[in-house]
Amino acid sequence: MGAADPTDPPRIVAASPQMVAVLGLAGRAAASDAKTLVTGESGVGKEIVARRIHALSPRASRPFFAVNCAGLTETLLESELFGHVKGSFTGAYRDKLGKLQLADGSTLLLDEVGEMSLRMQALLLRFLENGEVQPVGDDRSAIRVDVRVIAATNRVLPERVASGEFREDLLYRLRVIHINVPPLRERREDLREHIEVALERSRRPVKLTPQALDVLMRYRWPGNVRELENVLEQAILLNEGPVIDVENLPEPVRISPENILVKQERRAQVADQLFDALLSGSCSFWEHIHPLFLDRDLTRHDLRELVKKGLSSTKGNYRGLLKLFGLSPDDYHRFHNFLAAHDCKVPFQAFRTGADVNPTRPPPLPGVLRPEGRRAMTGTNGAASGGVPRGPMPGRRDS
Ligand SMILES: Nc1ncnc2c1ncn2[C@@H]1O[C@H](COP(=O)(O)OP(=O)(O)OP(=O)(O)O)[C@@H](O)[C@H]1O
Ligand SMILES: [Mg+2]
Repeated sequence: MGAADPTDPPRIVAASPQMVAVLGLAGRAAASDAKTLVTGESGVGKEIVARRIHALSPRASRPFFAVNCAGLTETLLESELFGHVKGSFTGAYRDKLGKLQLADGSTLLLDEVGEMSLRMQALLLRFLENGEVQPVGDDRSAIRVDVRVIAATNRVLPERVASGEFREDLLYRLRVIHINVPPLRERREDLREHIEVALERSRRPVKLTPQALDVLMRYRWPGNVRELENVLEQAILLNEGPVIDVENLPEPVRISPENILVKQERRAQVADQLFDALLSGSCSFWEHIHPLFLDRDLTRHDLRELVKKGLSSTKGNYRGLLKLFGLSPDDYHRFHNFLAAHDCKVPFQAFRTGADVNPTRPPPLPGVLRPEGRRAMTGTNGAASGGVPRGPMPGRRDS
């Protein structure tokens, strides 16, 4: 076992206090053999943290090993971890060493550990307790190995324990040290540096306009660092010039709710664009609209307008809104209660009659869908109403 090579650790962006804390913890974890659980959303950098622990540990001179516990059937995962002997199952044409044996003296990352079946969890627990590997189909005595185990997951394991899908004793075994990598949207300083790093990686010099940078800084990055790397790689590839502007960014980033809200000077268009984003699936009600409303980026007026647009489409049917907004049928009460609690329930009756609920809107142009079609509901209202919210409900004043 050699000493850690200081040039070895992969470069990790850590400009935010949260990532500095993560790396501090990774450094302390590297000094021991304690089993470490790395958690965080998809693409947040769990594997890079696991590799960092290995690279800073006394095991660094040996290669790092990883097994993805989600991508394999139970039989294959068992063989991948413990190895097998020839003929032990269909397709086992020759003896194969498992990763636990290959990683003897080194580190093994059990990626997506939350997806393991209960039977595999039992086998893993036994290994963690006795350090012994028994290859599938081999009845000779087990082999003792010295492997440092790091596990990673984007699941909330205590929730899986509560639902009976993950063993509590295994969770305690794996989580001697717990490192949680926060989502990128909570680490603005890192976001800026990740953007710089991604631009530097380009083969030709490229720059972002301040507007494009603003759009990237506001976006929520549900796919975290991996998404950011992909978005910038795509923008650089598809744009031949040296400057990347807003229109060179992929549509989901450009028309995300956060960016729609800031771009709009005329509030009347906010509901139109959110409605289109919901219908195209590029945003989701609970994940985007709900937090924006709670953060007060979205007003009650905007939300009511959105509901009205939906009711126009569904002819006043609130249940139909669920499908339109990509909500599950089980969400009916939650959705209803949410609207009621914030005084955003719009009376549905006027939408049932087919009467024009937007008296200020001009009749649709030939070839444009009727009011219940969404195209007729978008694009014309800003001009038609001069930015004034249109379609007040009878007997109701919009705020
Ligand atoms: N702090 C960081 N510094 C530099 N690169 C990073 C950082 N965090 C993540 N990355 C890069 O982002 C991408 C995703 O990281 P990684 O594979 O470690 O994420 P993950 O959390 O394991 O994702 P998943 O849950 O999808 O397996 C990789 O290309 C990685 O190099
Ligand atoms: Mg990973």
